[in-house]
Amino acid sequence: MKRRDFVKNSAAVGSIALLSSCVKTNLGRSGRLRTAHIGVGGMGAEDLKAMASHNLVDIAALCDVDALNLAAAKKLYPKAKTYSDYRVLMKELAGQIDAVVVSTPDHMHAPISMLAMEMGKAVYCQKPLTHHVSEARAMAKLAKQKRLVTQMGIQVHSFYDYILGTKLIQSGIIGKVHTVHAWSPKNWGYDGEIPSGADPVPENLDWNLWLGTARERPYKEGMYHPGNWRKICDYGCGTFGDIGVHIFDTPYNALALDVPFTVINNCREPNGFGFPENNTVTYEFPGTKYTADTLKWVWYDGPGAPGVHKDLELPMGEELPDQGAMFMGEKGKLLLPHFMQLPRLIEDNKYVEIDVEKYAKGVHSDKPVRDYDLEAPAHYHQFVNACLGIGKCTAPFSYASRLTETILLGVIAGRFPNKKLHWNNESSSFDENEANAFLDSPYRDF
Ligand SMILES: NC(=O)c1ccc[n+]([C@@H]2O[C@H](COP(=O)([O-])OP(=O)(O)OC[C@H]3O[C@@H](n4cnc5c(N)ncnc54)[C@H](O)[C@@H]3O)[C@@H](O)[C@H]2O)c1
Repeated sequence: MKRRDFVKNSAAVGSIALLSSCVKTNLGRSGRLRTAHIGVGGMGAEDLKAMASHNLVDIAALCDVDALNLAAAKKLYPKAKTYSDYRVLMKELAGQIDAVVVSTPDHMHAPISMLAMEMGKAVYCQKPLTHHVSEARAMAKLAKQKRLVTQMGIQVHSFYDYILGTKLIQSGIIGKVHTVHAWSPKNWGYDGEIPSGADPVPENLDWNLWLGTARERPYKEGMYHPGNWRKICDYGCGTFGDIGVHIFDTPYNALALDVPFTVINNCREPNGFGFPENNTVTYEFPGTKYTADTLKWVWYDGPGAPGVHKDLELPMGEELPDQGAMFMGEKGKLLLPHFMQLPRLIEDNKYVEIDVEKYAKGVHSDKPVRDYDLEAPAHYHQFVNACLGIGKCTAPFSYASRLTETILLGVIAGRFPNKKLHWNNESSSFDENEANAFLDSPYRDF
């Protein structure tokens, strides 16, 4: 299918259904959805493109603290109003936008999304949902209270291979799962020196707005903006909070997990600035109907990850995919490479063919789509359609907040290397009181 046809089809579903169904929310009263985009460089530009590809979307507003990124987006969407401060945008356009798309660095996800939800707006927020556990819980609570349409930006959640992987696991193809390994050799950590001094802030950047609610810090060229903020504790969540969210998502969803009861991170000592460049995070989860009595989960990241492990050996000495997840079950194991590759079933160290058609029933397309630009919009269109009263999102904040909390617990464990922490879901606290200081952080007035 050509991109144009795919996009037209998914939007057409929207318009037909609109005629026959009542819009449930106060959104899209005109039958169209007016979106405001906060952060329009980097992934924000992709988010804009994917939202705009739905033919019932009007890009109403753009906001960025970097004037060059804002100007580039304005060129593509000339009718949109432009802002550098999301608070001004939301105040001025309160009655002219229906949904907000948040594509900023992680530390600003919650402050922006919470304001948007307070104003009754639907929110599509990039992953990980938040920077702190307390924020993840608050986001889910507010979205529920206000009955808002929400979606976290883990677009692969709606990709063929991951939905198929979920269906395979839930069908019991490898029996109950006792262990999951997941890995990425990416390095969004920083073991270097804490930078000193300050560089001049480029004219195009509003550094105070970029810092937002984070504490004051001098600007350093290339250290934070763009992209490298991921490595730094005040703004990002390291490799685990970056690519880990995507790779964790399918096993988390397929095994119907909630939060873990223990977590330990084997990494270097904390330096109070950057995340460790190598992490091995081990969780224990309470059992579910798809797992053994408890589930063990090990995440490996950084250069050299995942290293050698007998569970990760492949038939005929084949090389392990660069990134992915391995489910270990009673009857065999399932490899889910990341990304855009079919899951593979392994029994007695041999590949076993999977009757894909049998298991893939109900997946939105009849075969894998091996073109990112064609497949990615599905997740965004699901959000737009849900805002217009058609269907539901599959990664709403109720789900995303639990997945994010789980990952953030592993990130916090990195502050206490090699120490097992015990998480109490009811009280939302660790038994090890010293770790509770990292569940939240004060917001700076800016
Ligand atoms: N889903 C995915 O596949 C995927 C891929 C990459 C990034 N992401 C996520 O997207 C988000 C952005 O990551 P990135 O790689 O694009 O980062 P980036 O630093 O490259 O881009 C962030 C953009 O937001 C702008 N910005 C920063 N603070 C802002 C603020 N307070 N208000 C308005 N604009 C602001 C920046 O100027 C920049 O244009 C992160 O949450 C990241 O995890 C998701």
